[in-house]
Amino acid sequence: MSFDDYDIVVVDSDEEFLAEAKAVFEGVVTTARSVADAQRLVEAGDLDLLVLGPSNAHEAALESFSLLLELDSDLPVVLATGTITAQLLRAALRYGLRDVIQAPFSAEEIHQVLRDSERRSKRRIAPVAPVEPVGPKAGRVITVASAKGGSGKTVTATNLALLLARDAGPGKVAIVDADLQFGDVCLVLQLEPKLTIFNAAQEIDRLDDSLIDSLLTKHVEGVSVLAAPLEPAFADEVSTAVLIEVVTRLRDKFEYVVVDTASLLDELLLSLLERADDVIFIVDMDLPSVKNAKLALETLRLLKFPSSKIKVVLNRSNAKARLDEGEIERSLKMKISASIPSDGLVPASVNEGRPVVLSAPRSKVAKGFESVAALILGEVAESAKVSKRRWK
Ligand SMILES: Nc1ncnc2c1ncn2[C@@H]1O[C@H](COP(=O)(O)OP(=O)(O)OP(=O)(O)O)[C@@H](O)[C@H]1O
Ligand SMILES: [Mg+2]
Repeated sequence: MSFDDYDIVVVDSDEEFLAEAKAVFEGVVTTARSVADAQRLVEAGDLDLLVLGPSNAHEAALESFSLLLELDSDLPVVLATGTITAQLLRAALRYGLRDVIQAPFSAEEIHQVLRDSERRSKRRIAPVAPVEPVGPKAGRVITVASAKGGSGKTVTATNLALLLARDAGPGKVAIVDADLQFGDVCLVLQLEPKLTIFNAAQEIDRLDDSLIDSLLTKHVEGVSVLAAPLEPAFADEVSTAVLIEVVTRLRDKFEYVVVDTASLLDELLLSLLERADDVIFIVDMDLPSVKNAKLALETLRLLKFPSSKIKVVLNRSNAKARLDEGEIERSLKMKISASIPSDGLVPASVNEGRPVVLSAPRSKVAKGFESVAALILGEVAESAKVSKRRWK
């Protein structure tokens, strides 16, 4: 593993740190001691990576380095620091840094950063479609997200889609499985997709309505699914631009497009959230979930994401490790809009491939999913009332 093909600059005022970094890069690295030094190097040419050392681990330094991104907006900048705090992470995100890594770092960690950056810039090359105004005929995009894996996104997305289909009728609801690596919407609905979003990516230049239609897998209850790639390795082939294009097209064809996601607050998820009409944000009833949800919601606030779109849904609300709901609301600075109780029927329904709103419609947990659907359908009813009033 060598760094011969890369132009990397490490910036820190501490000579000892610079010497250690040089050893990691086996000498193949340029060092700088200040923002001004770094600026000259950024101006001089195409750098592959700027690594800020621990002496820059504070707001003011990050802010001044963020100005360098005006000279080269694609330049990956990472901060290496001894102690990674939530506050630092947020500041780094706010100032456009790519990542915060633990110092001292290894050569492998830097290679990982370089690999991630290459992937991200590949994604960036494909321009993200501009956010289009929602026309009168466009369907409603509901994105289900959470800040921790296993919180219940997929079971919520699938049960919600079936309830929306029950209300709107067959052929009106689509689910997009945007958990590109480990999507399991089809598994939960007992479907075996032949074609997936990977095929949409392959055919992106000739993607039209009939092609999209041929990629959908249809569930007996009238819900269409655009499946995730069949293998995790194919996920990288599906760019953010492809996903956005697909969601935009499906929105024109369907009344509701439910998007299931992976628990990773990255560029892809942010782009999906930006295009959603509603975000169902699932918080599981345990401490790590609440902590992650708090951090993710704070990040979205910093990014000026409209909180009116977000509906917080508490999953496993009756779980044994019961937390106080008021306390969760205070911590998240948001109201809980709906709750889903914990019930053994859910894992059983996953194994069976028949969501609880179909297999046990009278159960408490099915009622929980109904309360989530009511957040969407209730608003439809409200807006219908408003427009009726207007037409009088
Ligand atoms: N309310 C519930 N009661 C009991 N079990 C539940 C409940 N919600 C989810 N589960 C179980 O938790 C597991 C994770 O749920 P699910 O797959 O929907 O989460 P996810 O957020 O989509 O996970 P991932 O991040 O891996 O995609 C499943 O086995 C599911 O059966
Ligand atoms: Mg899932």
